[in-house]
Amino acid sequence: MFEHSTIDLDILKQRAYNLRWATVPAGVIPLTAADPDFPGAPEISEAIQRFTKDRYFCYGPPEGLPAFKESMAAYFTNKRNIPASPDLLFPVDSAAFGIYLTCKAFLSAGDEAIIFDPVDFLFRYSIEAVGAVAVPFPIPPGDAPVSFERLEQLITKKTKMICLCNPLNPTGKVFTKTELTQLGGIASKHDLIIMSDEIWCDIVYAPHVYTSIASLDEEIRNRTITITGFSKSYGLAGLRIGAVMASNPVHFKKLMDASLHNATIHGANVLSQVAATAALDKCGYWLDSFVVHLDNMRRLCVDTLNTIPGFNCIAPEGCYVAFTNIEGTNKTSKEIQEILMNDAKVAVVPGLKEWFGDGATGYIRMSFATSGELLTEALSRIKKVIV
Ligand SMILES: Cc1ncc(COP(=O)(O)O)c(C=O)c1O
Repeated sequence: MFEHSTIDLDILKQRAYNLRWATVPAGVIPLTAADPDFPGAPEISEAIQRFTKDRYFCYGPPEGLPAFKESMAAYFTNKRNIPASPDLLFPVDSAAFGIYLTCKAFLSAGDEAIIFDPVDFLFRYSIEAVGAVAVPFPIPPGDAPVSFERLEQLITKKTKMICLCNPLNPTGKVFTKTELTQLGGIASKHDLIIMSDEIWCDIVYAPHVYTSIASLDEEIRNRTITITGFSKSYGLAGLRIGAVMASNPVHFKKLMDASLHNATIHGANVLSQVAATAALDKCGYWLDSFVVHLDNMRRLCVDTLNTIPGFNCIAPEGCYVAFTNIEGTNKTSKEIQEILMNDAKVAVVPGLKEWFGDGATGYIRMSFATSGELLTEALSRIKKVIV
C-alpha cells in the first residue's frame, strides 16, 4: 500500500497545495506540510461514491450526521479510553477550526492561554484571533521529562486555558501519563479549560504509548475539550474534517453556539463526514499499515540526518515530521532552508516564530510521509549540499 509505485506525482502536482507539490518549482521534492504523498484508503472513496450516486446533497443536521457521531464516540471510547457520548461531540470543518472554535467559546479579549513552545502556529493564531494572549511554555525537543511546575508559574488571574498538543507538532513528543496527570492537576487546581488537540494521536511509534488526557479521571475530563481530525491519519486534509468533543452539556452548548452551525453559517460538509465515518469504521487496517511504513521512514530519516555535519535530529515519538537542530552548521534555519531549496531542490519548513514559536529557532522540520525512494533521494540531495 505504501510503495513508491502508488504515488501519482502528476495528480499531486495538480492537487497538493499548502507548500507542497502544486506550489514548488518542477524538480523540487517538498517535505513541507505534513500531508501524505499516498492516495487514501479505497473504502473512503467508495463511501463517497455511494453517497454521491443518489444525487441528494441536502442540509445535514447542524450537530453532525448520526453515523459520524456514533463512529466518533465509539472511537473515543474504544481507542482512547474516554467514556464518550455522541451527544457531546460534533464534526467541524477541520481540526484547525476546532482549535479556533474552542478559543472563541472559552476565551475573551485580554484572557491568557498557555501554549507549548514550539508548537504549530494554529494555536497562537487562534488565540490572538479572539483577542486573547498566547503565553508560551517552553518544551525543548527530546525525551527529558517536562517540569510542569514551570508551567504553573505562568498562570495569572487572566489565564483561562492550557492548550495541549499531543503528540506535539513539531517535536514529535508523546506525553506520558505522569506528565498529563501533572498538567491535568494544575488545570484543576486553577480551574482552567484544557484544550487537547489530538489530531496526531494515531501516529505514535512503539514503545511509546498514547494517552488522551480526558481518559485520566472525571475531574480532568470535565474541563477538557478534545479535538481531532482526519488530515494526518487518513490523508483527508482537503476534505476539511475534524471533530470537537466536550465532556458536559454546558461546554458542548458553548462550543455549538460559537460554531454558528445552528445558523448554517458554518458546518461540516456531509460528504466529508461520510468519508470520515468510513475511515473510522473500515480503515483501521490501512492506518496500521501506514504507521508501520512511517516507522521505517522515521528511522531512515533520522539516521541519515544524523550523518550530516552540523545536523542533530532526535527521533520523534509520534507525528511524521523530523525536527532537526541545525545550529552546528553555524547557519540560521532560514539560510539552511534556502540552501536546501536552491541547491538540493528539497523544500523544508524553517523553524521561524511564525510557524512554530521562538522555541523552533535553530531547527528545520521535514515531513517523512512519503515513499522510501523519494525520501532517500531527498536525503541524499541534502547530504550533498551540507558539507
Ligand atoms: C497539531 C495540529 N493541529 C491541527 C492541524 C490542522 O489540521 P486540519 O487539517 O484538520 O485543520 C495540524 C496540521 O498540521 C496540526 O499539526
